[in-house]
Amino acid sequence: MKRWNETSNHKPPQSQKSKPPLIIIMCGIVGYTGKRAAMPVLVSGLKKLEYRGYDSAGVAVASQEGILIRKQSGKVAGLDQLIHDDPIRATLSGSHSGIAHTRWATHGPPTTDNAHPHLGPNGRIALVHNGIIENHNALRDRFKADGHTFHSETDSEVLAHLIESHYQGDLLQAVTQALREVEGTYGLTCMSADELGVLVVARRGSPIVIGLGDDETIVASDASAIITYTRQAIYLDDHDIARIEGSHVDIRSLDSSSVTRTPAEIDWSPGAAEKGGYEHYMLKEIFDQPEAIRNTIRGRIDTGRGTAILSGLNLTPRELVDIQRLLIVGCGTSMNAGLIGEYAVEDFAGIPAEVEQAAEFRYRNPIVGSRDMVLAISQSGETADTLAAVREAVDKGSLVAALVNVVGSTIARETGRGIYLHAGPEISVASTKAFTSQVSVLLMIALKIARAHRLSREEGIQIAQEIEKLPELVEAVLASNDQLAEVAAHYAGYNNAFYIGRGYMFPVALEGALKLKEISYIHAEGYHSAELKHGPIALLEEGMPVIALLNEGPGQDKSLSNVAECKARSAPVLGVVTQGDDEARQACDHVIEIPSCPHYSAVVPAAVALQLFAYHVARIRGCAIDQPRNLAKSVTVE
Ligand code: F6R
Repeated sequence: MKRWNETSNHKPPQSQKSKPPLIIIMCGIVGYTGKRAAMPVLVSGLKKLEYRGYDSAGVAVASQEGILIRKQSGKVAGLDQLIHDDPIRATLSGSHSGIAHTRWATHGPPTTDNAHPHLGPNGRIALVHNGIIENHNALRDRFKADGHTFHSETDSEVLAHLIESHYQGDLLQAVTQALREVEGTYGLTCMSADELGVLVVARRGSPIVIGLGDDETIVASDASAIITYTRQAIYLDDHDIARIEGSHVDIRSLDSSSVTRTPAEIDWSPGAAEKGGYEHYMLKEIFDQPEAIRNTIRGRIDTGRGTAILSGLNLTPRELVDIQRLLIVGCGTSMNAGLIGEYAVEDFAGIPAEVEQAAEFRYRNPIVGSRDMVLAISQSGETADTLAAVREAVDKGSLVAALVNVVGSTIARETGRGIYLHAGPEISVASTKAFTSQVSVLLMIALKIARAHRLSREEGIQIAQEIEKLPELVEAVLASNDQLAEVAAHYAGYNNAFYIGRGYMFPVALEGALKLKEISYIHAEGYHSAELKHGPIALLEEGMPVIALLNEGPGQDKSLSNVAECKARSAPVLGVVTQGDDEARQACDHVIEIPSCPHYSAVVPAAVALQLFAYHVARIRGCAIDQPRNLAKSVTVE
């Protein structure tokens, strides 16, 4: 298994000077050059990137006749049909190099004109671009004064004009010169009708992965689009520019000096990025969880010594003892996982841990002590606020580690130490398997810190054994999927819901509510069970179901009293209860059972039960489960 300090993608934090701004568009890029017909590779690549969220799509291929572009607002399936119906289909499908894009509108609405690829003024250079060119207005004015006409409102079209203005037969040279004039961020791929088979790609602040095949190269903004073809990939660093022709890749920096980047193995199987026969990626990913957690913990638990082996953290026991506080930052689901980490670190290790929204941490000038460790959690490794929080912590001189799923992502590259989840690709916008893998790692981190601080070997062994049981706990919940679907049917008609929990189950209540609201559009809020009395109770009535986390553990008696208060106000109650706990069962209208286990590991089966519950509610309501409205997988904008 790859460790953080073993991956070729890891590098020390960049200097402040070289850091790009953090405003990046959430779009998808695919490029192809090689032995195959480019069009099917491009379209299938776009389909793999659909999960990111987009509102228009386009492709361009290069041929003797010049560059042919097909693009339109709407889905990739519509673009595919457009290409299929095209009278010049033979030319379109005969080309062996091309570029493609899915766009999420920022500069200008999602129209066909604004969709990428964009052409230079003579139609000889085409470009797809993620990011924002901040000086696009000044450049546009300059070109307009020179008589250029623009067909879109995008900053990207201006960049295409800039590149073509520098073109004198060498695309790499033209892109390099253009990018020296650019302020802002980019992940780009472009090609010229005068250099058939050549792609030039560049990165500053927006990811570009180069997939190395046999006599072919597939480039993309994320690995999902390339793993069907190859697992050998180069992740570009900021300021890298590469010229690609067939399988030949020449990487330079902005000053034209040659750069060596070692290829990394993408350890996702092609099938892992497919739905695998499930109706939705979300359901597949929920069912992936036993395997995902096994992959996450494999080789990382030393049961005999009652500790975790997390070499990516790169900390000796002496350094672990020196850690006096853990500051956890993240957004959304990742932050909810962080809250469970807070409980576990304090519980096992007896040192303070705090969780903060990354967006808050980055702007409020946080106090970070010399013996604090900042832990950033991000599935994608690209979330703008979490990345900015990492940079803030680095600038404050603190020890920074990250917990990331996507290998080679920006957060992974900018933190000197960390742990990969190895949960496999998470395609569904709603995060599921990343959450339970994050929790598994956080329990291991807590165990490791705790062993250095105060936990005995015997206690450590017990916790290590419980962590190893997590996949089985998940399997037990998945086995009750059909019953869960039946229970969900009772709740799919409501428009509001409360989730309540205490102790370790409080973050699970937050996560359960987040899952339900994002995929079913039911207004759902998570509260600490005790907080109900301080306001939310005013809303309890028969139309306000309460999902109560009631598993065995400290405070269960109090939670049962909270449930009685809900029932007294006619609120329907769905309890997540421990198998065989009749008292809890009788307190509720419906129950979902989870296996008996310590409260710190019960969070995992409880979260899985709530994921399935949300999934079935959303399915019954006919929602677009994998691509909920207004959401994108990777939130690289502030
Ligand atoms: C919810 C969800 C989001 C993400 C959040 C952070 O299901 O997926 O709340 O958890 O946008 O994303 P990452 O973990 O990629 O930093």
